Amino acid sequence: MHLPDLVKARKRTNDEVKKVQYQLDKKYRNIGKGKTYYVKTYGCQMNEHDSENICGILESMGYVKNEIMENADLIILNTCSIRENAHNKAFGMLGRLKHLKEEKKDVVIGLCGCMAQEEVVVDEILNKYKHVNFIFGTHNLYDLPKLLDEHKKKTNIEVFSCEGDLIEGLPVRRDSSFKAYINIIYGCDKFCTYCIVPYTRGKQRSRLMEDILHEVEELKNDGYQEVTLLGQNVNAYGKDLGLGYDLSDLLIKVAETKIPRVRFITSHPWDFTDKMIDVIKNYPNIMPYVHLPLQSGSDKVLKLMGRRYTSSEYKELFDKLKRIPNIAITTDIIVGFPGETKEDFDKTIEMVNYCKYDSAFTFIYSPRVGTPAAKLYENDTTSQEEKEQRLYELNNLINEYSLFNNSKLLHTTQKVLVEGLSNKDEEVYGYTETNKLVNFKGNQDLIGKIVKVKIIDAKSFSLDGELVE
Ligand code: SAH
Ligand code: SF4
Ligand code: F3S
Repeated sequence: MHLPDLVKARKRTNDEVKKVQYQLDKKYRNIGKGKTYYVKTYGCQMNEHDSENICGILESMGYVKNEIMENADLIILNTCSIRENAHNKAFGMLGRLKHLKEEKKDVVIGLCGCMAQEEVVVDEILNKYKHVNFIFGTHNLYDLPKLLDEHKKKTNIEVFSCEGDLIEGLPVRRDSSFKAYINIIYGCDKFCTYCIVPYTRGKQRSRLMEDILHEVEELKNDGYQEVTLLGQNVNAYGKDLGLGYDLSDLLIKVAETKIPRVRFITSHPWDFTDKMIDVIKNYPNIMPYVHLPLQSGSDKVLKLMGRRYTSSEYKELFDKLKRIPNIAITTDIIVGFPGETKEDFDKTIEMVNYCKYDSAFTFIYSPRVGTPAAKLYENDTTSQEEKEQRLYELNNLINEYSLFNNSKLLHTTQKVLVEGLSNKDEEVYGYTETNKLVNFKGNQDLIGKIVKVKIIDAKSFSLDGELVE
């Protein structure tokens, strides 16, 4: 049994990260035969992609996906620790599963993901949620077959605080047959003071360019239209490898595979180079869309957050990016960081007025145990009510600019990758190159194709269009 330890997880070693090829041990091959599984995912795209690997591993062991949780023989919760409400949702689900287990004794329950890396969570599960059969962390997805084999003997907890090897070749069951996530860099070394990710995901480790390109080529040959390169900070790609290449080199190589659409997420302003901007501008299959988290417009708060840029440096980068024709820029903003005054918040509003973002994810600061900002929070005097008021004001402004930007697309023709059927009859939905949601009349046959759509109406959160061809 290995228990998590956030203090250990903070350490960054110079240990070489070894690449290990995954292979399923023969003895685990039939464990899932005749059984079904259900995976519930919380959190970011990285977790979604981890779940695709978890499903891939389970299917290689004979398990079959079950669409209904209550009917599955195995239930796995892949959890997120980023904010209190993600944490509460997972515990809410664990409560529900307790009842299920009372009715259905044989159901096997596992928990993994970022919450598994937190000792407060694991302690609580051991004390109050004894119906959980096994727990594994973000660094050892590959242990799943072993845990499933052993859990009958004891509650099995295998969470490593140190990242260990970089595993290649995990099986994957992708949710989509036309768009795919590809990890390019794991972990994060930025240690923004509010954020739990550097503790739950470990040291920054890039995958080798050749392994990424191999994955892109395979996806392209399978007919995929879009790849999204994933990392907590994709702009730091390659730095840890010391092989002389970075994100701009990777983007060029990925674009040269001629896969129709290349996206990347998330960019940290600190690591954005001019060369990267040029590459985004010069390759038509690199989508003109950048998610550039601001977090706050106040230099004082940015400093307390450990973000490593000032508002004027952010603006300078933003202006350079805006020179890319038709680019869309979105952001993340936190309100109510400990010590944020009304004046600080007004600076965030000022920045939003300057950047006029295409859209934004906005959050009230949520203290995370073990992070430096959680200590600042103990002396925070701003009321929750005031924070909610700030969030409300900010969201109204963000929505105004979303509508403003969406309206600019009225009467233009956009290329849309169709993803599925809309809720409305005979309508489909998809995304523009700039990642805007479009609904339009069309049928099932369009799903997975890139089509031309004329925009006929613009709202804050979506566009309406008409198929052109
Ligand atoms: N790696 C990405 C973000 C990952 S988390 C980046 O650096 O931009 C996604 C967003 O969640 C962050 O951008 C931040 O706005 C928000 N977030 C992270 N920790 C938070 C916390 N403790 N409270 C509120 N929001 C938080
Ligand atoms: Fe968290 Fe900052 Fe790393 Fe993003 S860059 S994952 S916000 S520590
Ligand atoms: Fe959540 Fe972990 Fe992602 S904390 S946002 S699932 S990296």
